[in-house]
Amino acid sequence: YLNYQVPRTRKEIFETLVKGLQRLEYRGYDSTTTDINGNTICLIKKTGKVKALDEELYKKDTLDLDEKLNTHFGLAHTRWATHGEPSALNSHPHRSDKDNEFVVIHNGIITNYKELKKYLINKGYEFESETDTEVIPKLIKYVYDNRENDSITFSTLVERVIQQLEGAFALVFKSRHYPGEAVSTRRGSPLLIGVRSEHELSTEHIPVQYNIQEKNSHNRPDCSNAINSVGNGKAVEYYFASDASAIIEHTNKVLYLEDDDVAVVTKGELSIHRVNRQAGEDPVRAIQTLQMELQQIMKGNFDAFMQKEIFEQPESVVNTMRGRICFDSNKVVLGGLKDHLKEIKRCRRLIMIGCGTSFHAAVATRQILEELTELPVMVELASDFLDRNTPVFRDDVSFFISQSGETADTLMALRYCKNRGALTVGITNTVGSTICRETDCGVHINAGPEIGVASTKAYTSQFVALIMFGLMMSEDRLSLQERRLEIIKGLNVLPELIKQVLSLDLKIKAIANELYQQRSLLVMGRGFNYATCLEGALKIKEITYMHSEGILAGELKHGPLALIDTQMPVIMVIMRDACYVKCQNALQQVTARSMLCSDVIPLQLLSFHLAVLRGYDVTNAHKSHSVQ
Ligand code: F6R
Repeated sequence: YLNYQVPRTRKEIFETLVKGLQRLEYRGYDSTTTDINGNTICLIKKTGKVKALDEELYKKDTLDLDEKLNTHFGLAHTRWATHGEPSALNSHPHRSDKDNEFVVIHNGIITNYKELKKYLINKGYEFESETDTEVIPKLIKYVYDNRENDSITFSTLVERVIQQLEGAFALVFKSRHYPGEAVSTRRGSPLLIGVRSEHELSTEHIPVQYNIQEKNSHNRPDCSNAINSVGNGKAVEYYFASDASAIIEHTNKVLYLEDDDVAVVTKGELSIHRVNRQAGEDPVRAIQTLQMELQQIMKGNFDAFMQKEIFEQPESVVNTMRGRICFDSNKVVLGGLKDHLKEIKRCRRLIMIGCGTSFHAAVATRQILEELTELPVMVELASDFLDRNTPVFRDDVSFFISQSGETADTLMALRYCKNRGALTVGITNTVGSTICRETDCGVHINAGPEIGVASTKAYTSQFVALIMFGLMMSEDRLSLQERRLEIIKGLNVLPELIKQVLSLDLKIKAIANELYQQRSLLVMGRGFNYATCLEGALKIKEITYMHSEGILAGELKHGPLALIDTQMPVIMVIMRDACYVKCQNALQQVTARSMLCSDVIPLQLLSFHLAVLRGYDVTNAHKSHSVQ
């Protein structure tokens, strides 16, 4: 919301929006949109990278870029699809109707959107996208159309809308009915407001305005040194964003909204509203000064994206399970597979295909999948699978596991299986990727963009997605119910367990300190842990440039023992499972120091610390956009 007092050209507004989106591209980039409010609201949508949107804006000969606008507002959004493929229709802003009476951008997920959508369709509203977000503009129009009087404010409408929403959201609303006004709110998803002024701001915090006043005046907030809004006719600009990286080049003065705060800008003035005051709630929102650099903001408190993504895993696994597992009824439904379930159950075998880390996710889940599906499960490296001209039949079901959804070997293996009539299933993190488009059905792992060059959170989410597939397949098998419950209970506590593992970071760093000058590092285990060994060794090789091998402990005496001497460091992955005693035997054979791991995550941390200590630039190791 640019300076209210100075006329702005459309070009200036476009530039501000596109720059902001580019800064947010690291969080998702599968479709983008811009909306400019001159006298009317005009939506411009483009699928793909922000650059494509930028080019599109300059092609629009219907819009005069140099025209000075009598409003100063623009709205833009970049998306990482969760509901609905990346397409112009699914891009934000979503609208109430063809006249764009209300438009909304949304970050988050509306979990009760199906119920709301059904209700609104019954009331005659027509939906045009597959997104959860679209219920919001329709709902606000419904509330507006059924208002009790014409003086209802924009913020009251928004307050009524959010009372009906479940899930997480950060929202910005614009409406033709309220020119010069924009409203924003959040619950569970981040939202901040950058405040920029050429003059000293007249306040450092603004009081929240409650609709329902407290009866006891002693409890009233002390607002004697605060004014009710920022702006007060001064030339102030406001930047609403889900992340400080989008706005930091304009201002470092920011204000963070609390859950259910409704922020309103009216003719250049910002005020904050709530329905009523909760006990213990801070009645003012402070304007803070950010001291961070842009790179720092994007990486949060972390030095590198890889490290950030390792620490995101308690949330990313929840995102993979969200809306799919019901921990009360023990039901698992993967929407992308349910129409093909009968066909999958009739198949002769499952073939899991991937490269690198994605292949390891198949190795890690093979045993549980065999147990739960009672089908033979083959795990295949895509390149080798093709080199061998592996026989594939019409009654096979082939899975293509790929974070990017673009890996060439995996894609070729997909086309190979498709040509032979097998059902093809994608397990990807990138909606709209080639693998996603070319498979018959699939599961989106919802881990969020993975930027660090070494795959981390995608691995754990692939693992969880494949396990959920096994659980879905075994729902009606009486003999497997006990085992299913055990696994579902395990998934329920998984985020908490990951947090516990992450709290060992300092200890793992100390181990890295002892190991970083070594030339070689062996990682050994058996049973379920073999995949952890392979994946751990891959992480170590890939980012520390040390020689590392994942060794199946049962194979030790058949050759690898020759590598062991007093100098060779060995990490053993041991759990109190069926292989515990056998692993203890192997431990005695190598007399190595043991590092007890419950999953792959300690090895992700170890490889990260080793790489830093060995002087490699993990900080700038980002995935390249061309995938081989
Ligand atoms: C290792 C790593 C790679 C990828 C592999 C497949 O850290 O990132 O081994 O797992 O290149 O990539 P996707 O999963 O995108 O097919």
